[in-house]
Amino acid sequence: MKKPKIWNNKHLLGLKKLSADELTCIFDTAENYVKYAGGTGQKTDDLKGKLVVNLFFEDSTRTRSSFAIAASRLGADVIELTAKASSLSKGETLRDTARNLEAMGIDMVVIRHSAGGAPYLLSQNIEASILNAGDGYHEHPTQALLDIFTIRQLRGSLEGLKVAIVGDIAHSRVARSNIWALNTLGAKVFVVGPPTLMPSAVNKLPVTVCHDFDSIISEMDVFNMLRVQSERIKSQVFPSTREYSRIFGLTNNRMKRAKKDVIVMHPGPINRGVEIDSDVADGPNSTILKQVTNGVAIRMAVMALCDSVK
Ligand code: NCD
Repeated sequence: MKKPKIWNNKHLLGLKKLSADELTCIFDTAENYVKYAGGTGQKTDDLKGKLVVNLFFEDSTRTRSSFAIAASRLGADVIELTAKASSLSKGETLRDTARNLEAMGIDMVVIRHSAGGAPYLLSQNIEASILNAGDGYHEHPTQALLDIFTIRQLRGSLEGLKVAIVGDIAHSRVARSNIWALNTLGAKVFVVGPPTLMPSAVNKLPVTVCHDFDSIISEMDVFNMLRVQSERIKSQVFPSTREYSRIFGLTNNRMKRAKKDVIVMHPGPINRGVEIDSDVADGPNSTILKQVTNGVAIRMAVMALCDSVK
């Protein structure tokens, strides 16, 4: 792929520093890849001969397979590495693993890690492109890109849209990446949840904080429902799952009070009946599976763009 003038990033570490033009460049590129994302059997050779390593230190279903599918539809070869099945479990440092992979001629590393900043560290130590597939609570750029790309497809522009990100904001890298990019693109972001699931420095984020979901239901254009990330939570942050669902869940009843064309999103994995009712997750306003399909197009775009810089 020929490098677009505006694009000069070899790595994708986060969305905080990307400009509106850079974000738009990713979306416009992804638009050209949508036809490859839905499983038509079509492929491109934009990354032909390139070697991509999927380096996952945390569990993943969607993100990992989406990156692998994206790479394969671009004609690249993909190597899968998990922490458990590699020398990472024998004490090798991340830097050494990466440098050894590099010695075998890899072009791109897709990394998911529980430590915020791990992708950055890697980018400082090897020549290959580094794509962040989620680092701790920090960022999950491709997830937010596919969320926003889906909204853009349905509404044309983000300008002035009211987007509620609901649930476990404190432990969510998806929320953080969405907050940065939505703001850059002119949307108004509301974060909704109990005080115990808000980040301590939430007042420094460009968002409106809300603890009463019902009070904003009818004005929102988008609900992005987050899973409560229990695996990251050590203490009890709400009385019971039932209580949480009653106050912050996207239920059929709440949907009755929402805008008719409100967009219902979820990054997955869904906990049905907790943050979202099953009927709502599968209902006419839900874009959950469309997000997954778009994820392949977005990841194809990001890979092709980052590769075009080298
Ligand atoms: C998210 C993640 O891992 O940050 N999932 C995803 O990538 N689609 C959110 C989650 O695990 O709840």
